[in-house]
Amino acid sequence: MKNVPVYKNPKKSVEARVRDLLRRMTVEEKAAQLMQRTIGRDVNPENVGPDHPFDPTVGSILTFTAGAAARNAFQRIAVEETRLGIPIIWGYDVIHGWRTCFPVPLAQGCSFDPSLTEKSCRVAAEECWADGGVDWTFSPMVEVGHDPRWGRNVEGYGEDPFTNGRFAAAAVRGYQGRRPSDLKKPGRIAACLKHFVGYSACEGGRDYNYTDFSVRALREWYLPPFEAGVRAGARTVMSSFNCVNGVPAVANKEMLTDVLRGEWGFGGFVVSDWGAVSQLSLQAFSSDPAVQTLATLGAGNDMDMADDAFRNVPDLVRAGRLPVRVLDRAVARVLRVKFELGLFENPYVPELPREKTCRLPASLDLAAECARSCAVLLKNEGGVLPLDPKKVKRLALVGPYVDSPLAHLGCWRGMCSEEHAETPTLFDEAARFFPGAKIELERGVVAGANECVATAAYEKPDRAAIARAVRAARRADVVVVALGETGRSSGECRSRRDICLSPAQEALVDALAATGKPLVGLVLAGRPLAFPKTAEKLDAMLWLWQGGSRGAQAAWELVTGKANPSGRLAMTFPRAVGQIPVYYNAQPRCRTGYDEYQDLVGENGPWFPFGAGLSYTTFEYGKVRLECAMRNAQCAMKASVRVKNTGKRAGAETVIWYLSDLESTSTQPARRVVGFEKVFLEPGAAETVRLALKRKDLAAMQPDGTRRFEPGAFELSASLRASARFEVP
Ligand code: NOJ
Repeated sequence: MKNVPVYKNPKKSVEARVRDLLRRMTVEEKAAQLMQRTIGRDVNPENVGPDHPFDPTVGSILTFTAGAAARNAFQRIAVEETRLGIPIIWGYDVIHGWRTCFPVPLAQGCSFDPSLTEKSCRVAAEECWADGGVDWTFSPMVEVGHDPRWGRNVEGYGEDPFTNGRFAAAAVRGYQGRRPSDLKKPGRIAACLKHFVGYSACEGGRDYNYTDFSVRALREWYLPPFEAGVRAGARTVMSSFNCVNGVPAVANKEMLTDVLRGEWGFGGFVVSDWGAVSQLSLQAFSSDPAVQTLATLGAGNDMDMADDAFRNVPDLVRAGRLPVRVLDRAVARVLRVKFELGLFENPYVPELPREKTCRLPASLDLAAECARSCAVLLKNEGGVLPLDPKKVKRLALVGPYVDSPLAHLGCWRGMCSEEHAETPTLFDEAARFFPGAKIELERGVVAGANECVATAAYEKPDRAAIARAVRAARRADVVVVALGETGRSSGECRSRRDICLSPAQEALVDALAATGKPLVGLVLAGRPLAFPKTAEKLDAMLWLWQGGSRGAQAAWELVTGKANPSGRLAMTFPRAVGQIPVYYNAQPRCRTGYDEYQDLVGENGPWFPFGAGLSYTTFEYGKVRLECAMRNAQCAMKASVRVKNTGKRAGAETVIWYLSDLESTSTQPARRVVGFEKVFLEPGAAETVRLALKRKDLAAMQPDGTRRFEPGAFELSASLRASARFEVP
């Protein structure tokens, strides 16, 4: 290793290698490291392809459908034919799986089981690395969502900052591994926490819209999941499109440098969101590319995504407008992650046959397990569920999503789109679960041709289709109707002004209910929807979300009782759009005894609250027992509650611990989640679930966004089923 440069010597420390490499680089080579190109299926002018020559010194490529072989071919040019041989980092949006599709993240939040998310992210990483040559995913999205009209809630884990933080950390561990050194292992990829920060607060749920939130909201809701992800070791962060207190996030030094690096010690790199640097002109920040580059690099945004905005870097350095120190800082951060990933030693991925890397039986089984744990049973009148297959001689399967694979896959489905033919639908799977039954399929609603247009806009009531569905229902013992929205009605740029069911689906439910047959609603959706009146006509309602490759299997396992629903809502469901925002950890109302809306008389509050979800068994909660140990700051309180399965079926219960601060100098949310744990219990079995709170966990949010412990009264509740008050002097 004598003549090998330090940066090529794996025995040297990452920092020594970064320093050595930086020293050797020209300004052009440095600038190139901060740029990302796209390759494959895209039409942006910078897309690498026959008409756009490839610059092999580029820092990163966002790879669409290129695949492992193409990646290796390009990588070979970068590594073997450039002066310094710096490998390219290959990014892609691997959001809920690569070829094995897992439930959409919002559904995963409802599992209240981050360990499943960790496992699914691990599978996604292994698959995308080996099959697609991806070593960096733009995931997890950890934004707290309060407005179900916003299409992108589907990409996050719900409305609670604490829960989001737990899922953020789990996803990071899944993609990257548990220890920093894991990142070098084959099949581990860099995670990217996004979108930093506050994008989900877009006014009116309108995507890309202005955001305005207080410093309290920033600190209480939007920042904590990112902090949890950073502390779990995330190596990259994506700055968001929106503004934070009037300053675009991509140029926001306070967020990108002071908070992210100063407060949390983040040591990786920040990438902008797509085109966000050039889009500063749209935000009337500046139309001058030089100002855009200086502002964003100066603020701590290290890499520009896709739009070539940093091409002016060399000129700016030569003109003395961009200090070399600022450029070096950004380049060092990018190189550091490349070294940590082991890209210099292992720049290529093995080109193994797809059957050896993707959709392995264990991965598909995991997809089924995830889908089972995410589904939320919201209604089960008269115990109509679970259905006993032996008693069902004729089954009517109705609704627009009863035979749609894409409705299970949802949005941001990566290469899973190519697998949709391999994704069984509810109809495909039904016969396996009802072997002796005659199964009739009737859509009842004519779905539109465009999967991307919100359901309500294009599904038209069709009397003939409904009449056929009604005839099938009359002949059946049970009717199962699959409702909701298309796979791509949620996602980026998929906001909805209303979150109702389409009139066509409502008409269908009305007609089916009029037959008097037991009516089970399965809902496939990527967001909360609001249709309380129509839902009254369903005997049971199981919210499947978009469950992925094995969503249909999981659905029937739950419907027939082979599995017991255990999902709990991670996001509040409003009764009507006019109630938005409605979320569990709101500040208390200052007057009670009055209806919130005169057109929702007696129906205050949401349709289904955060944490809602039924089971086929029953759980009894004992008393919340407290053991105060306030001798030091490390441990302020220990709590426990005994939970018993008092029903006849095995099932899982999620104990959600809520803390209410009853006395403080500034108002506090009525309650906030401070812990949760999901326990599986056989019939008759009981378990004691414990929680330890530190003094800082009790601290009250102050007007300036800091938390300060204030003595006084608190209440701790276990799933709102049992609670205890306590005083901390
Ligand atoms: C824009 C989206 O906002 C972001 O989430 C995504 O990662 C990038 N495009 C890349 O596709």
